[in-house]
Amino acid sequence: MRLDVVTIFPEYLDPLNVSLVGKARARGPLDVHVHDLRRWTHDRHNTVDDTPYGGGPGMVMKTCPWGEAIDTVTADGYEQGAARPALVVPTPSGRPFTQETAVRLSRRPWLIFTPARYEGIDRRVIDEYGTRMPVLELSIGDYVLAGGEAAVLVMVEAVARLLPGVLGNAESHRDDSFAPGAMADLLEGPVYTKPPMWRGRGVPEVLLSGHHGRIARWRRDEALRRTAEHRPDLVERCDPAAFDKQDRAT
Ligand code: ADE
Repeated sequence: MRLDVVTIFPEYLDPLNVSLVGKARARGPLDVHVHDLRRWTHDRHNTVDDTPYGGGPGMVMKTCPWGEAIDTVTADGYEQGAARPALVVPTPSGRPFTQETAVRLSRRPWLIFTPARYEGIDRRVIDEYGTRMPVLELSIGDYVLAGGEAAVLVMVEAVARLLPGVLGNAESHRDDSFAPGAMADLLEGPVYTKPPMWRGRGVPEVLLSGHHGRIARWRRDEALRRTAEHRPDLVERCDPAAFDKQDRAT
């Protein structure tokens, strides 16, 4: 998968060299290119923003640098054999970025991220590229960040770990909170590892029983308990019939 990120703070994306994403880059499943938007400015001050039409506070990112940047980045990518780019625009006014979004993005061959600062990017940029490629305006949550770069880090990490060959154990995202399947819509319950006793605290007996059916049932019940406590809205989406079926099978 090819990823391009155009930003006025390229160093903000340095964490993409670390840990899981860094390894995915080094090993090959991820090909990441970070670009400085100011490269496509032509004035002495490398201006990327201006006052909003209609007035109001803050500044708006200008069409010209973004247009030149996205044109150049797409042309480079095509030249290097990439195909089917999608533009990902992080914005608090976008559709929610969820695990389902991450799964869909992980199936795309090429994503171009355009994190904005200030009050956002002149709308015409999004409208223009919307005629040439899929454009996804995505929000990582109901809060406002100072810019979209942190949102890019979040989205790239969520997507990268779904790529084939990136996670050591292909099964390790099967039980994730929000992963599709029988536990869909449930948060993951608590986990334990050695030692069996720590500061007088033991491990739930069932986990030491070796009884896979009982362990699966316990995990499901703990997941339900945690979901009810932290995300009652998700419990309402659960299908009790699916749980009954699971119970009969154990
Ligand atoms: N930029 C600023 N806030 C954001 C958010 N919540 N999600 C995505 N991009 C953003």
